[in-house]
Amino acid sequence: MTGGARRLIVAIDGPAGAGKSTLARALARALGYTYVDSGAMYRVVGLAARARGIDPADGAAVAELLDGLDFALRPAPEGQRVLLDGRDVTDELRTPAAGEWASRVAALPEVRQRLVERQRRLGEAGGVVMDGRDIGTVVFPGADCKFYVTASAAERARRRAREIGAPASDLPEIQRDIEARDRRDSERVHAPLRAAADMETIDTTGLTADEAVGRVLARVTERAKA
Ligand code: CDP
Repeated sequence: MTGGARRLIVAIDGPAGAGKSTLARALARALGYTYVDSGAMYRVVGLAARARGIDPADGAAVAELLDGLDFALRPAPEGQRVLLDGRDVTDELRTPAAGEWASRVAALPEVRQRLVERQRRLGEAGGVVMDGRDIGTVVFPGADCKFYVTASAAERARRRAREIGAPASDLPEIQRDIEARDRRDSERVHAPLRAAADMETIDTTGLTADEAVGRVLARVTERAKA
């Protein structure tokens, strides 16, 4: 970081597979900021509910589970690691089942309220890039920079398949899953995914990861000097 520049809060929201986390991680590295993947928190809760046979629509039961969960997000050179009961569960969290369960428990206000509190504590001092669905709208509505990162559903399915090493024959199913999750995230009553008027939209469909990072980095650097 250059002398005198402010340490900002950068919020990056958008649908599944749009390239948010790649972008957020690279941006945090370039700025010397901490990267926080808020989705990992919803994934931890989803995974734990699934493992214990808890109904993901039962707000009271999932809230009780969450209150007893011992999990932590740790900044790491490759982005962020997640510990659950002291065990590194980062890789398990990336499975499609964890994503599916995450979006179910994420519809519960009891869960959102608790996780938003933790996210605010992690980011309030600034020098943070946080990605998710409601970072610029609910968690940090006053964030210094807000981006809405998106891409076509077909492109997002291709990226997700690459990420999990799935064959091309799985693409239609992956795309259907992504679209179902988009619908659930955008149509829920509490903190739905949306591009707010004060967010800059970055469509990464035709962009390389480096091009997307360059675009966002230029904007944030400008803002840090202001
Ligand atoms: O990486 P990907 O975009 O597929 O998902 P994620 O960011 O790990 O989020 C998984 C799920 O958690 C999403 O589908 C949302 O339902 C939920 N989520 C949320 O509701 N609010 C956030 N700030 C982050 C994630």
